[in-house]
Amino acid sequence: MARIKDFVNILDHDSAFLSALIDKAIADKKLFRAGQLPASLSRKTLVMYFEKPSLRTRLSFETAMVHLGGQGIYVTSAEIGLGKREPVKDVARVVSGMCDGFVARTFSHEAVCEMAKYASVPVINALTDYSHPCQAMADMMTAKEEFGKLEGLKMVYIGDGNNVARSLASACASLGLGFSIASPEGFKLEQEFFEFLFKRYPKAQVEQVTDPVIAVKGGDIVYTDTWVSMGQEEEREERIRQFSGYQINRELMKHANPQAIFMHCLPAYRGLEVTDEIMESAHSRVFEEAENRLHFQRTLLAVLMGSGGEIRL
Ligand code: CP
Ligand code: NVA
Repeated sequence: MARIKDFVNILDHDSAFLSALIDKAIADKKLFRAGQLPASLSRKTLVMYFEKPSLRTRLSFETAMVHLGGQGIYVTSAEIGLGKREPVKDVARVVSGMCDGFVARTFSHEAVCEMAKYASVPVINALTDYSHPCQAMADMMTAKEEFGKLEGLKMVYIGDGNNVARSLASACASLGLGFSIASPEGFKLEQEFFEFLFKRYPKAQVEQVTDPVIAVKGGDIVYTDTWVSMGQEEEREERIRQFSGYQINRELMKHANPQAIFMHCLPAYRGLEVTDEIMESAHSRVFEEAENRLHFQRTLLAVLMGSGGEIRL
């Protein structure tokens, strides 16, 4: 299997690598719980750069580094000023000289791509305006644990065609799940993105519609995300207006498969994209999903920073 340096986008990687990463994360989770996961990143440091707030992503990377015997170093734009105080390519080479990995949550997706280009150490995308690949991979892990397989499942996404939606669509196309997204006009994923997906995966069962009821039919996994992503706060009122009718509630869940699970990357805004009833219902897997951010990313760090990008099961 090819050696991998960075994890910036799902579509940068082939299906075999993604699938092996998920299986390794599930196996490592069991080892961890049995107290048998090796501390494979002893004396290694991971720079964790955040331009936006975070609960899950920060906690999961920082905790994962402790579990692996290394250290996470949290920095914000106030210290680094990526691309402002100092050019991205300079930061990349300074970090590479001192530390062993770089995690970045930025507005600009291009900044993370440029970091990956100039850094000799692994660079991991912890969410940009364009994508959220670690979230989508932890979600695939959660689905595989739930259903024992990924191929042939149908994931339904209701709401904004955003970073999370783009990464989920990519993961589904790569790993053989169907993906049906319903968004209002003006908030859909770009047509070029779908063209690219179909070029890469001609058999992908991926579709984009406007009506949530059509999308949700036959769904095994019903997913949503906030209508107002970080950085869009000024559009809040208009977005809430545009997305009314795209809430996941008991009525909409009736159209999915009876055993369907509900997922949300969190933070969730109860009463907007989802009701409190669905969040707290037997369908909901949102907290298993949140915990799997830790398990997936711990394995990702061990593979990229400890095994030179090779997956050793
Ligand atoms: N889902 C997710 O990335 O959560 P945070 O923004 O809290 O990290
Ligand atoms: N789409 C959301 C995801 C938060 C984890 C955002 O970008 O704010």
